[in-house]
Amino acid sequence: MKALVVYGSRYGTAAEIAQEIARVIEEEGVDVDLKEDKNVKKLDPYPYDLIIVGSGIKMGKWTKDSIKFLKKNKNILKDKKVALFVSCGAANEEKSREMGWNDYLKKVVDENLEGEPVDMGLFGSKYDPQAKQGLMYKMTMKFWKKDLEDKGFDADKAYDFRDWDEIRDWARNLAKI
Ligand SMILES: Cc1cc2nc3c(=O)[nH]c(=O)nc-3n(C[C@H](O)[C@H](O)[C@H](O)COP(=O)(O)O)c2cc1C
Repeated sequence: MKALVVYGSRYGTAAEIAQEIARVIEEEGVDVDLKEDKNVKKLDPYPYDLIIVGSGIKMGKWTKDSIKFLKKNKNILKDKKVALFVSCGAANEEKSREMGWNDYLKKVVDENLEGEPVDMGLFGSKYDPQAKQGLMYKMTMKFWKKDLEDKGFDADKAYDFRDWDEIRDWARNLAKI
């Protein structure tokens, strides 16, 4: 089996998830290509059996290039095994996960794919008050800081809300599909 992992990531979080997914799938004996969405404009996904596409979420949106990849290749992807994942703040909390599934995954399937994906993954994000990012990121972190403090966290520290065992299990399962 030949697999392609395409990811869109503004701050590196979904990129690290994509790297781990590719690593695990390869460990399972699958031939894998890992590509950032910016670099797949001319890539033909036809030779791949399994195509995994994922993105981080900003203001409710996937990256433009990852959505473009889905739209452009809709006709090829309809005959392939496709799996989607997102990394988002909504996944970190039980009360917002349902919204995450509906708005960031199911809606993307409805709008951009023909047919159903073989699997979808809703994965968490990381909180890093020291990250060297732009103003929007810093403002979002400030908002989260207050939220984390209210929940009793020491918000001067960094936290990784991604469940790496869940991510690895998800990837291992895809390698066997
Ligand atoms: C400016 C900004 C906007 C965000 N908007 C959302 C959002 O609308 N919904 C959500 O669940 N998470 C949101 N997040 C959290 C990100 O989805 C999360 O940090 C994700 O892991 C980022 O992935 P990336 O680093 O691969 O871009 C936002 C984060 C930032 C910094």
